[in-house]
Amino acid sequence: MIAKLKILSVSPFVGSNPTLRTKNINLINFYIENMTKLKRNVWNETFKEKGKVFIKPQRDMPRIIKIFKKHNVKKVLDLGCGSGRHLVFLAKHGFDTYGIDIAKYGVSMSRNWLKEEELKANLKVCDIYKKLPYKDNFFDAIVSTRTLHHEKIGKIRKLIKEMERILRKNGLIFITVLNFKYIPKNEMKQIAPRTFIHLKGNDVGLPHYKFDESMLSAEFKNFKVLGLWSEPQEKIVNIVCWARKNNMI
Ligand SMILES: C[S@@+](CC[C@H](N)C(=O)[O-])C[C@H]1O[C@@H](n2cnc3c(N)ncnc32)[C@H](O)[C@@H]1O
Repeated sequence: MIAKLKILSVSPFVGSNPTLRTKNINLINFYIENMTKLKRNVWNETFKEKGKVFIKPQRDMPRIIKIFKKHNVKKVLDLGCGSGRHLVFLAKHGFDTYGIDIAKYGVSMSRNWLKEEELKANLKVCDIYKKLPYKDNFFDAIVSTRTLHHEKIGKIRKLIKEMERILRKNGLIFITVLNFKYIPKNEMKQIAPRTFIHLKGNDVGLPHYKFDESMLSAEFKNFKVLGLWSEPQEKIVNIVCWARKNNMI
């Protein structure tokens, strides 16, 4: 389809056949519309085509679970669990593990991975920007890596409220969000303040909200931020944060 469009888009307005010309223009419009439409479940296709994608746990996870254990954490939610690298890691370390993600292929890969390792977790396919399907004060901790930034700020704020609701008093969170260092202007489209969708690559159509460290900590205003730093990589910067609910020392 894309190859066909490339050929047609060379000269959509030239040519003497008006029917063909209209057809070409319609196809090009369809292509542009399709590339710039919000698509919230693109990771489902990525997992289907590429498999697990992320295998090793995020590098701070071993340290974070030591902190979890010190704070008597038992029940942990992986928010946006993807294909399950942290579910497996958490379950292996004896936590009562829960995972939620919109991508059903990711969740089914998580289920298989856990089974292979003879581990268990409670998994749900769900949109995390809607009401979360858990009771108030249910979790002792929430981890969420490379996920939280996938919406406009209004919905992210609602999600943070939901995280507060399902987390017990003094519950812990470990979050990473990512920023792209540089994307050429013709490869992204701004759809809201600080919010972009990519027109190329894995994440086409998925919103990315661009946090910086102080903005991230400001959004978690009902938490006491215990650690906040940036990890620059080749093309991206990961912002990492861990915090405790209720702002109590
Ligand atoms: C970059 S992947 C990270 C996956 C996993 N946290 C990890 O680090 O391996 C982003 C994940 O966010 C999930 N996601 C994006 N938007 C979502 C939504 N609205 N509801 C639930 N999950 C969502 C995607 O399906 C994908 O699994």
